[in-house]
Amino acid sequence: MVVTGGNRGIGQAIVGRFLAAGHRVASFDMGGEPATGALGVNCNVTDADQVEAAFKQAEEANGPVEILVANAGITKDTLILRMSDADWDAVINVNLTGAFRVAKRAAKSMIRGRWGRIVFTGSVVGLYGSAGQVNYSSSKAALVGMARSLTREIGGRGVTANVVAPGFIETDMTAVLPDDVIAKYLAAIPAARLGQVAEVAAAVEFLASEEAGFISGAVLPVDGGLGMGH
Ligand SMILES: NC(=O)c1ccc[n+]([C@@H]2O[C@H](COP(=O)([O-])OP(=O)(O)OC[C@H]3O[C@@H](n4cnc5c(N)ncnc54)[C@H](O)[C@@H]3O)[C@@H](O)[C@H]2O)c1
Repeated sequence: MVVTGGNRGIGQAIVGRFLAAGHRVASFDMGGEPATGALGVNCNVTDADQVEAAFKQAEEANGPVEILVANAGITKDTLILRMSDADWDAVINVNLTGAFRVAKRAAKSMIRGRWGRIVFTGSVVGLYGSAGQVNYSSSKAALVGMARSLTREIGGRGVTANVVAPGFIETDMTAVLPDDVIAKYLAAIPAARLGQVAEVAAAVEFLASEEAGFISGAVLPVDGGLGMGH
């Protein structure tokens, strides 16, 4: 399997969980170190040549990629009037176009093998919205369209495509948020706490399992109820 952005945070937890379950795991990332036992592949998902080379390296080491978790993501938050084209492009290029690049490459061997699991790491804000995150929430909402279109294209070949939509999870990404923003979110989260990376990894493992073969085009929230109904 391949996890993008697997050297840190949620991706790292996903890598750890699949390693523990006995999978051969490649982490495509630009920095940091992969978990012991994972194949670390240096890959910036915004670069098509690097993506192709990374898949070749992963396939040579681990065989065809049957499970893809497109998890690499960045934020460049600011209110719309201050959001530059560069802020927009950077986030769309990693979160959305990067996911497209890896999904396209992985779909090739999944279709051939007539089995595959694609899981995109979306976000609660993709459907809920978030002030200051027009670029980020747009990129995450688009992953829902991508998963559903993939489902219609290749669902008949034994391939599923789903979105896990984490809410506020304790990671480096959320550690930079000001205390008042965290307090505001805590007040809105029915579970009255932030989530843990292990809770997202568990949801991804389920969607990638054999038993989840009839679940496709779904958005699975892991958000303590924050985004209910969206
Ligand atoms: N932390 C949260 O609360 C939260 C909530 C909802 C969704 N998410 C999503 O979950 C995913 C992981 O988030 P996280 O909190 O673990 O973030 P993180 O910043 O801790 O880790 C992201 C990883 O992706 C890698 N990465 C970034 N750009 C890349 C690129 N161009 N090519 C390859 N790798 C790249 C980074 O090096 C890093 O290892 C992201 O898609 C994020 O949008 C996070």
